[in-house]
This record gives sequence, C-alpha cells and structure tokens, in this order.
Amino acid sequence: MGHPNEFGRRIAALRKDKGYTQEKISALLNVTPQAISKWEQGNALPDTLLLPLLARLLRVSIDYLLTGENSAGPIGPYDGEYRKEEYYWGMQPSELAGQIMELMRGDTGGKRLLDIGSGEGRDAVYFAKCGFQVDALEISFPGVEKIRRYSQLAGQQVNVLRADMIGCELPETYDVIYSHGSLQFLPPDQRQKHFAQYKQRTKLGGLNAHLIFVEKPFIKKAPDWEKNEFFYQSGDLAGYYHDWEILQWAESIVDCNSAGIPHRHAVNRIIARKIEA
Ligand SMILES: C[S@@+](CC[C@H](N)C(=O)[O-])C[C@H]1O[C@@H](n2cnc3c(N)ncnc32)[C@H](O)[C@@H]1O
Repeated sequence: MGHPNEFGRRIAALRKDKGYTQEKISALLNVTPQAISKWEQGNALPDTLLLPLLARLLRVSIDYLLTGENSAGPIGPYDGEYRKEEYYWGMQPSELAGQIMELMRGDTGGKRLLDIGSGEGRDAVYFAKCGFQVDALEISFPGVEKIRRYSQLAGQQVNVLRADMIGCELPETYDVIYSHGSLQFLPPDQRQKHFAQYKQRTKLGGLNAHLIFVEKPFIKKAPDWEKNEFFYQSGDLAGYYHDWEILQWAESIVDCNSAGIPHRHAVNRIIARKIEA
C-alpha cells in the first residue's frame, strides 16, 4: 500500500475533492476527527474493516484507496508519469496560454477561466498568476495532486475539479474556456455536443481557446497515443466556432518528447470570441 504518508495525502486530497471536512467524514465513519487527522498526516492507519465504507464515501475503489491505482489500470493515461516528482509537461506555460494573455491585455480581474485536461497545472497556475479565477478540470488523481502542489508552491489559488470531461456538465459560466492537448479524448461522436456546451457556457465577449491534434498522413502517431485518443481533421475547430469571431487560427507541426521518444505532432490552435448575433 506504499508509505502511510502517501495514503494520508491521497485520502486528504480525495476528501477535499468531494467537499468533506474531517468532521463530516469522522461522523460518517463513526470515528473521532482526530483519527482522520492522524490518518491524513501518516501517523496512523484506519481499521481494515472501515476501508470499504471509506472507499465508498470517497467514491474510489479500495484498490485505489490503498495503492493509488485501480487493478483495472490507471484512471488517467499519464498517471504513472504524474506520480513522479518531476513535472512531465514542465512548469512553463504553453505558447497558447501566453497568446491569450496578450489578447486580454491584463484585463483578467475577477474573470473566470476553465482549463480542461489541465494535466499537472502548468497553464492553470499561470492563468491564476495573471489574475484569473481558475477552475482546472482533470481526470487523473495524481494529476490533480500535482496541480494542488504546484499551485501551493506558486502561492496561487486554483480550484481543482477532479472529473471526466466526457459527459461533464459545466457548473459555471466562464470568461475563457481553454484546453491544451486534451480534447482528443472526446470521442468524435460526442464532440458536437461538448463544443456546443463550451460555447453555451461562455459569457458574451468571452473566449474559447484550444490546441488539438490533427491527422496528417505524413506524420506518424505519437508513441504514447492511446486507444481512447482520436485525431481531429484540419479545420474541424474552425467549423465548431463558425459563428464566433475567430481571432487566431493556425496549423503547425511541433516537436514533442513525451514518453522520452522524440516525435512530431500536427496541431491546430484556435482563439475565438463569442459575439452577440
Ligand atoms: C496531453 S495532456 C495535456 C496536459 C496539459 N493541458 C498541458 O498542456 O500541460 C492531456 C490531459 O488530459 C487529461 N485527460 C484525459 N482524458 C480526460 C478526461 N476524460 N477528462 C479529463 N481529463 C482528461 C489527461 O490526464 C492529461 O492530463
């Protein structure tokens, strides 16, 4: 089950994700709040017979509770990488994030931004530093732990939503809805309705910005391309935003070193603004 500290950190993160206080969990499990605090600090472990109930409350398997993994495999494709100390995607924001900030010209005060498939939070933390109120949506538990760690290190507030983007009902409306290299996880037959929701949940005058991977016959699939990742076709994004003002659209071929093997991706980037019809 790993070190008690890891177990403690995991249950603390899950508890906060689900919005439970230590007192609430202790009441539901019929133990003292001090016991929960000891577990979370790695100073004690719960009674074995409490594990099924604790797992149910935190909505994970007992396997995951104990090891950080499900026997059926990791929940997120990058879980193994995100569990490592170093930041797989680095801590520098992406170029697209910088382009949004140029367009905003500092006008971020009180504005809300959603980062979908936030990874380890490099862009989410950057946007928070720039003054946005940031929600970071990410499926990977080790990923969200990394986002929390990075935002604390940077002294920035990032609201982490541990969720599956597929079928996720967005709880808020946003000034900016952003994704960087993550919407290939939306199956093609689900895209129309998800983009419709992103557009609908954007305030008038707000932006949507995405970087997506497009299929090119002359570029090989990345070595770490998963079975649940699906290419877009060149121009698809502009189609989804045909009725918005397209501020930037570009196609390029970029180098990547994920999985430790140098390869290339063809990508489309878009920044589009919602305009009153
Ligand atoms: C290529 S990474 C990009 C990470 C980050 N945007 C960046 O540029 O550093 C794609 C991210 O999408 C996340 N992801 C994959 N499927 C997801 C899903 N169904 N819901 C939410 N996030 C998902 C992965 O865990 C991963 O962190």
